[in-house]
Parts: sequence; C-alpha cells; structure tokens
Amino acid sequence: MKRFIITANWKLNGNNFLINNFIQNIKNYLSKNIITNTIIFAPPIPYINNIKDQIKNKHFFLGAQNVDTNLFGAFTGEISINMLQDINVQYVIIGHSERRLFHNESNEYIAKKFQIIKSKNMIPILCIGENIQEKSSKKSEIVCQKQLDVILKLSDENIFKNSIIAYEPVWAIGTGKTADIQYICKMHQFIKKYITENSNVHTNEIIIQYGGSVNLSNIQNFLNIDEINGVLLGNSSLNYNQFIKIIEIVNQTYNK
Ligand code: 13P
Repeated sequence: MKRFIITANWKLNGNNFLINNFIQNIKNYLSKNIITNTIIFAPPIPYINNIKDQIKNKHFFLGAQNVDTNLFGAFTGEISINMLQDINVQYVIIGHSERRLFHNESNEYIAKKFQIIKSKNMIPILCIGENIQEKSSKKSEIVCQKQLDVILKLSDENIFKNSIIAYEPVWAIGTGKTADIQYICKMHQFIKKYITENSNVHTNEIIIQYGGSVNLSNIQNFLNIDEINGVLLGNSSLNYNQFIKIIEIVNQTYNK
C-alpha cells in the first residue's frame, strides 16, 4: 500500500455495459499515465473476473464490498474469504454503514469478518462513523471508539497493521454534504491516537481514508493533509470521466 489510496465502492450499481466502458477507459488511462498512488476498485462481485483479466497494473487492486464469516457450506447467497482470494481480491470493505443499517450487522459480527480477512493476509477496509443524531449529541468519538474496541479486543496487538480504516460519517454519505476538513482531521487524529494507545501499532502505520460525498469538485481539499491517507468514493466513482479526473488530480498532487 502506498501513498494516497483511492477506493471506489460501486455498491449495488453497474451492469456489463457500464463495466466494459469503465474498463476500456481506465485501461486507456493507465496505459498512458504513470500512477504512484493506490487504486482499489470494489464493484459488485459478478464483474470482478472481467476486470481482473483486463486491467493489469501494479497500483490497481480489486476489492470486495463484503465477505461472510463462514468459509464454506450451507450458507446460501454468501461469499467466503477463500472465494475472494481465489479471484484475486486483496481488499475487503466491511462495516459499511449501509450493511450495519440494512443488514443489522453488529460490531461483534464485523470484528469476526475483520479477523477472517486478516487470517488470509488480505486487507480489511473497516468503515466506521457516526450518524447525524450521534454527531448532534457529540457522541462521534465514542461511537468510533466502540466500533474500534471490538477489533482491539481480538487479542492481536498488531491487528491494525496492514489494515485500512475508512472514516465515513453516515450523514455525509450520498448527501452532498462532506464533513469539513477540520472536523475530519480531528476525528482521524482521535482514531489514530486511540489505536496507538490501545495496541502496538505506530501512528505512521495507521491508514485512514475519508468517505462521504467526495467528488471532483472537492477532492483537492483532501490532499496533502497528513491525517487523511485516502478517500473512499461512492457516487463519484460510477462515472469513469469523473473517476479518472479524480485519479489525475491525486496523481498530480502527489507527484509534484
Ligand atoms: P458517496 O461518495 O456516494 O457519498 O458514498 C460514500 C460511500 O459510502 C463509500 O463507501
């Protein structure tokens, strides 16, 4: 993992036509430009193989949007970590607020997923963040703390090494309202401090992306800030023009 990390979470969006268009345009861009930052692309699983076969670049990685806690067996509809590894997925998003909300995923259940991903030497992208009521009642830090505590309790002092945390305040997702930079930095500092105080991981080893309404017109605000190690994009990653321009801006900023 290197420098600034751009993760694209396509959620439940896309079809063959869009994916093929996306692949062609990204391939084209990568063949003409040298990128030094990390791009993680997490489409719906049915499209992974197609992308894997066509985009080959050492800075471009595949991500999944979820994983089951079981490895195999009678669990209809689920996808195991072994299957993800089999199709070259290296990163797995877990704990997204949409899964916490619509699939009732608890902190404990997410911790199990975290552990399973780490056990395969793959990289979890753990989403944490408060909702609007929690923010209004000044509980943002305590909410994130609880979301981290279950992982810290996994009795591995190094559990947050080679992991990514995505701080995604729920009220900023898909709303067009990004959190302001000072607020993000304060939350990222809190998260880093809390992890270093409660494990063996050094601040420099903790990677935190920000997610929530990041797009072409505001991407520049998140760059060159020590506390922000990357962005997790939703809507703005669905449009290849916008996505490529975001990559370009990140690239230009970090290659200066
Ligand atoms: P938006 O960029 O659409 O706000 O989504 C963010 C997100 O949820 C990424 O996981």
